[in-house]
Amino acid sequence: MSNEYHLLGSTGLRVSRLALGTMTFGEAVLGSHDWGADEATARAVFDCYLDTGGNFIDTANLYTGGRSEELLGKFMAEGGTRDQIVLATKFSAPVSQDNPNLAGNGRKNMVASLEASLRRLGTDYVDLYWLHSWDRLTPIEEVMSTFDTLVRSGKVRAIGLSNIPAWYLAKGQLLARARGWEPIAALQLKYSLVERSIEREHVPAALELGMSVIPWSPLDYGFLSGKYTRGADGPAGEGRIQAFKDLGFHQPPTDQHWTVLDAVREIAADLGRSPAQVALNWITNRPGVTSTLIGARTLAQLDDNLAALDFDLTAEQSRRLDELSASEPGYPYQIFDLATRSPNLAVSARPRSFRD
Ligand SMILES: NC(=O)c1ccc[n+]([C@@H]2O[C@H](COP(=O)([O-])OP(=O)(O)OC[C@H]3O[C@@H](n4cnc5c(N)ncnc54)[C@H](OP(=O)(O)O)[C@@H]3O)[C@@H](O)[C@H]2O)c1
Repeated sequence: MSNEYHLLGSTGLRVSRLALGTMTFGEAVLGSHDWGADEATARAVFDCYLDTGGNFIDTANLYTGGRSEELLGKFMAEGGTRDQIVLATKFSAPVSQDNPNLAGNGRKNMVASLEASLRRLGTDYVDLYWLHSWDRLTPIEEVMSTFDTLVRSGKVRAIGLSNIPAWYLAKGQLLARARGWEPIAALQLKYSLVERSIEREHVPAALELGMSVIPWSPLDYGFLSGKYTRGADGPAGEGRIQAFKDLGFHQPPTDQHWTVLDAVREIAADLGRSPAQVALNWITNRPGVTSTLIGARTLAQLDDNLAALDFDLTAEQSRRLDELSASEPGYPYQIFDLATRSPNLAVSARPRSFRD
C-alpha cells in the first residue's frame, strides 16, 4: 500500500486509502462454514496491514460477539500500536437480548455500548464511533446530541453513520451545523461494482455536506475475487457466500453481476493483476471515496488486496466497468434532463470533489 493518507470528511484525521475490516477476527461459524480467522491468522493480518503503512482499522461490538474487539485490544496492547491506529468501532447491535434500551440507537445504548467496547479494546477512546444501522425509531436529534457529548468527553474523536437513508444523514449533518455539534465525518455504506445504489442519494449528499464515503464489502463478500463460478443454484465454489446465502444475507448474483465479473477477470488478465485488485482499484477511485474497507480471512487474501493500489486502470478499462455495472437511474432521475435541458445545448457542471 502507498504511504498516502486522506483526510476523513471535514476533520483533520488522516486515514490510509485501504482500511482494515476485522469482521473476520475470531470464530464466525454459520452452519457448516467458519468464515472467520483464528487468533494467529488475525494477528498476522493485523501486523501485515500495519507493516505496509495502513493506519485505519474498523471493528464493531457486533463482530464475532465482541471477540474482534478483544483481539484488537490484545494486539494493540502487545505491540504498543494503539496511538498509530485510527481505531473505529460501532454500536446499534443489541447488548442485551431482554432489555429494549440496550439495543438500537438511543442514548442509553450508545453510551453503554461505547463503555463495553472501550473495555474490550483496552483503550480509553476511539478515533471514530459509528452508528451501525438505522433502528427506524430513535430521532436523529438524540443520536447527534449524544455523539457531540461523547466527543466533548474525549472518549470519541470523530463520528460516522452506517446503513442509513440519505434523508436521515442530511438531516443529521444540517442539525449538527445549526447547533454547533460535532459534524458527521464519514458514511460507511455497502458499495461495489455489483452494488452501486448509494450513487443516487448518499454519494451526492456526502460530496455536498463534507463527509467521506467508506465502502464496505467492496468485493461483495468475495464474489468479485473471481473464485466463484455460475452454478445451478447460485455461485459455486468455497467461501463466505456459501455460509451466508442460506440466511438470505447475500443476494444471488444477477446476469449483470456475472457480466461485470467476466469483465473484471478479463481486465485483470490483461494487467497481470487479480480480479480482487481490479475491483478494489475501481472503487477506491470513485467520487467521494476516501478509504475502502478491505476484508481478509487469510494472510494471502490480505496480500492480494493490499496490492490493489499499485497500478492504474486505463480510462478505457474504467469506462467499461462503469458502463457494465451501471444501473437504471430510476425515478425521479430519468426525467431531469427531459424536464430542464434544451436538446441542442450541452450544459454540464464542473466535476468536483468535496474538498473544492
Ligand atoms: N457497516 C456494515 O454494516 C458492514 C457490513 C459488512 C462489513 N463491514 C466492514 O467492512 C469490512 C469488509 O467487508 P467484507 O469482509 O464483507 O469485505 P469483502 O471484501 O466484500 O469480503 C471479504 C471476504 O471475501 C473473501 N476474500 C477477500 N479477499 C479475497 C481475495 N483476494 N481472494 C479471494 N477471496 C477473498 C474472504 O472470504 P472467504 O475466504 O471466507 O470467502 C473475505 O473474508 C468488514 O470487515 C467490516 O469491517 C461493515
